[in-house]
Amino acid sequence: MKANRSPAPEAARYLLPPEAYTSQAWFDREQATLFARNWQFACMDDEAAGLGAYVTLDAGREPLVIVRGHDGVLRCFYNLCRHRGVRLLEGTGRLESGISCFYHRWQYSLEGSLKALPQPEQFPGLCRDELGLQAASLQVWNGMVFVNPLPDAPPLLNWLGAMADHMDPWRPGELIPIEHRRMTIRANWKLFIENHIDGYHLWYLHADSVRGLDHPKQTWRPVGPHWAFYEPPLEPGVSPDRQQFGTPIIEGFDETRFGSTVWWVMPNLAGAAGATFWSAIRIIPISPGETALEIRTRIGGLPDQPGSGGGLDQIVDEDVRAVESIQRAMSSAAFRVGPLSNDFERSIQTFHKNILRLMETGRREV
Ligand code: FES
Ligand SMILES: [Fe+2]
Repeated sequence: MKANRSPAPEAARYLLPPEAYTSQAWFDREQATLFARNWQFACMDDEAAGLGAYVTLDAGREPLVIVRGHDGVLRCFYNLCRHRGVRLLEGTGRLESGISCFYHRWQYSLEGSLKALPQPEQFPGLCRDELGLQAASLQVWNGMVFVNPLPDAPPLLNWLGAMADHMDPWRPGELIPIEHRRMTIRANWKLFIENHIDGYHLWYLHADSVRGLDHPKQTWRPVGPHWAFYEPPLEPGVSPDRQQFGTPIIEGFDETRFGSTVWWVMPNLAGAAGATFWSAIRIIPISPGETALEIRTRIGGLPDQPGSGGGLDQIVDEDVRAVESIQRAMSSAAFRVGPLSNDFERSIQTFHKNILRLMETGRREV
C-alpha cells in the first residue's frame, strides 16, 4: 500500500572506526590537518595583559607563542628560534624587552624581529630582516584569542560564521573569572566532544546536576563544521542557573535567552552559557587516549552564598566518567557502537562527517 508519508529519515549512525580513537597514525593525521590549519581558541585576551605578556601553546604539532608588543598588539609567532630551532619559551609569563634564546642568545623583539646575535662576524652575509620569528595568525574576538598556524589565514569570522551570533550575547572579557583550571582525562578528545554534543544524555547522566531545563524542546543546528545548541528553561523567564547556583543574572541579559546555550567550535572550543555564567573548555589532544581540558568559567556577579557557583564541576565530572568508560571499553574486541538517537545524537554523525571532510581537505604535506 502506498502511504502519503514522507520516507523515514535515514537512521543516525556512528561513522568513525575504532582506530580513530586509538591509533597513533590517525591521531597524527588529525594533528597535521584539523589542528594545524584551522583557527582555534588559545586563551583570553586579558590573560595576556600588559607589555611583554606571553602565552605558549601547541596548535597540533605547531609550537606557537602569543606575545603582547610595545604597541599593545597581540601577535602570534612560531615558538622556534631561527638559529637552530629550539623552543624559545615555555608556559606563560612576562618578557622585559624581548625574547632571548637560551641556547646561543639570539635576541628577538616583542614584535618578532631579530634584534641582535652574539659574534655577528661569525655569520657573514646574514640578513637579520630574513630571520625574524615566523608569523602565525591571531585575532581577538569578544575577549577571546584565536590563533591559526597559517601566516595568511582567512579572517576568523569566515571560520566562525553564524557561531559568532550564537556566542555573542556574552562578553566574557567583562565577566568575573571564577575558574581557570586544567585537567587531564583518559579518553580521546573526540569522545569528549561527542558527549558534549549529545542531547540524549541530559535526562539521565545529569538527572541531578542539570535542572530546570526543558530537554524535549532542545534544538541544535550545524553551522559550517561547528554545532549550536539551545534549550529553554522549564519556566519561561526563570533562569535555571540563577536558581541552581545562586549567581546573579548578567546585567542586561535578555530574558528570551534564559536557558542553556551550548556550542562546539571546531576544532577545540566547547562552551556553555546561561543568564548568569559563561564557560569555555579548550580541548587539547595529548595522545589517542589522553586529552587535556582547560576549563574557564566566568560570571556576571558574585553568588548570593560565597563558594557557590561551582556546580558546573559536577556536570564535567559526570561527563568525564562516561567518556573514560567508553575509551576503556574500546580495547574490547566486542566493542560496537549501536544506533544513535535520531534527534538528539544525530549531531555525532554530523561531527564525524566534518572530521572526515576536514582531515581530507585540510591535509598537509609533511
Ligand atoms: S638555537 Fe637559538 S640562538 Fe641558537
Ligand atoms: Fe554532559
